[in-house]
Amino acid sequence: MEKKLIIANWKMHYGPIKAGAWIRAFRRERLPKDLDVAVAPPFISLASVRASLGRASIPALASQDVYWEMEGKFTGEVSPPMLEELGIQYCLVGHSERRKHFGETNETARKKAIALQAVGISPVLCVGETVVERRDGNALKTVRAQVRAGIKGVKPDGKAPLHIAYEPVWAIGSGRACSPHDIREMHEAIRGILRKAYGAKASDVRVLYGGSVDEHNILEYMTTSGIDGALVGTASLDPAAFGRLCRASIVT
Ligand code: 13P
Repeated sequence: MEKKLIIANWKMHYGPIKAGAWIRAFRRERLPKDLDVAVAPPFISLASVRASLGRASIPALASQDVYWEMEGKFTGEVSPPMLEELGIQYCLVGHSERRKHFGETNETARKKAIALQAVGISPVLCVGETVVERRDGNALKTVRAQVRAGIKGVKPDGKAPLHIAYEPVWAIGSGRACSPHDIREMHEAIRGILRKAYGAKASDVRVLYGGSVDEHNILEYMTTSGIDGALVGTASLDPAAFGRLCRASIVT
């Protein structure tokens, strides 16, 4: 089984100066060997994080977004080759905040995922239902549709394997984490779609959970079968707390 992965998604926090300071503080943290750790700063701080890492390869670098064209007249956008130049390993696509505030759709997320794989960056396709969809009994239906539409033409394996992050919208930043039972049900549904689309290669896709994960509940998630890692927002903003979260994620 591949190592589990924890990605820190800082969202719109920390410009280049604060991001550099975070990395220097985090480098003092002891991390479990059999864990992959990545940090996703805002675009403007990616270069500063890369510089503060020096020769260190942990944490790996992730981006919070990308545009799907490789170059051209797209004012304000950042392309996959630009991320590749900085040694970015993972990139989120279709995060619920981008779907809600910036018009991201299953189709744009899919185009971004394909463009990322073309330059060797692993897409992390984020999916999840709203509180209304869960209340109305449509959670599984919504997430299944997001996954089916988002993975068309996306490869499961290779240099830049697909990742999926199940993040129920109502659990994000709310302190109301999803129960391991409900996550397992959703992850099984996602795995079913992956097996149908990719056959045996489906096992190359890591399926993460995100939504109010912290240092106290991480172990329960990471020891729930079918959960291959976590996407962490609020609890990643403090480097020492995020270090504790990483250590707490694995039984040593
Ligand atoms: P929180 O950990 O703050 O709930 O955010 C989760 C998230 O959206 C990570 O992408």
